[in-house]
Amino acid sequence: MEKYRIASLFAGIGGIDYGFEQAGAKSIWANEIDKYCAVTFSINHKKTKLVVDDICNIKGKNIPKIDILTGGFPCQPFSVAGYRKGFKDNRGNLFYQITRLIDEMEENNNKPRIIFLENVKNLKTHDHKKTYKTIKRELEKRNYLVTENVLNSCEYGNIPQNRERIFIIGFLNPSDRKNFDWKNIPKIKLTNTIDKVIAWDAEVDKKYLYEKDKKCYQLLKENITEKGIIYQYRRIYVRANKNGVCPTLTANMGMGGHNVPLILDNKNRIRKLLPRECLMLQGFPKNMIIPEELCDSRVYKQAGNAVSVSVVRRIAENILEAMKETDEKNENN
Ligand SMILES: C[S@@+](CC[C@H](N)C(=O)[O-])C[C@H]1O[C@@H](n2cnc3c(N)ncnc32)[C@H](O)[C@@H]1O
Repeated sequence: MEKYRIASLFAGIGGIDYGFEQAGAKSIWANEIDKYCAVTFSINHKKTKLVVDDICNIKGKNIPKIDILTGGFPCQPFSVAGYRKGFKDNRGNLFYQITRLIDEMEENNNKPRIIFLENVKNLKTHDHKKTYKTIKRELEKRNYLVTENVLNSCEYGNIPQNRERIFIIGFLNPSDRKNFDWKNIPKIKLTNTIDKVIAWDAEVDKKYLYEKDKKCYQLLKENITEKGIIYQYRRIYVRANKNGVCPTLTANMGMGGHNVPLILDNKNRIRKLLPRECLMLQGFPKNMIIPEELCDSRVYKQAGNAVSVSVVRRIAENILEAMKETDEKNENN
């Protein structure tokens, strides 16, 4: 059977593409506005055609024939840390670019069989639940059967990061919807612990270390005292994450690197997590290429903005299985 084909909107560095590809789909087309994300995406997804442009300039007729349309659309307007503007914020309105493209694709006989969206957890409760109701209604108007779930990466993706995200799936085919059940994606034991992801013994570049010359050194030294724990430094205080997982990685890790989590390594040095460690805490493959031309702050931002690959993979496996069941039944009839 031919592989199901996906196109990604707001593709970033391709976390969703990795997840679907690992589950057995083929990523064939993607769109992303940010040229630095595009560098990372292109070098790691050589077979996917990436269009680097504002989604507002994309025409549905130019998206090749696909089965699944995905979009981890910008979450700033919905995030707790953001301004809670929801649809009034322009970035919130980008959701309507997704529905515009679905409509244009339908006109071109290319209406996606599956819509897969990802966002911050509080999208569901934002503005007295009105925001999510609107999203759902817009998809339902287009005949999608919509289901959603909030999953934490450390419970569902076997990666040691506390990251709760909402995953929204729209099924055009009722049989696909019937074949899909969140119960088939149960919590799994976290075996991939921070000990395995973090290079506690690594020789790292001096730029990742917090030594005496740093203004915050004294505060960090007093508080960062245990190994095997990930710490967060927040200007005036330091917090230890004693639950054995990394706090949610955020895009603002890219802003001067201040929000990058810290550790006390095996040589008793206080250091930031490395860009590669952040990517691994999102479930990106070990052999993923970090483009040399990108400075660390770009990579931290890309990692913080990304989706947890292993969580997407598990959902994608179930979506693809549901589609396959439908198709096999149809073939036999
Ligand atoms: C939350 S991130 C998605 C990250 C992606 N899921 C990943 O794994 O890397 C949202 C992405 O939307 C992109 N974006 C924002 N506005 C856009 C626009 N107008 N057109 C296209 N992409 C846009 C951002 O640059 C960002 O990479």
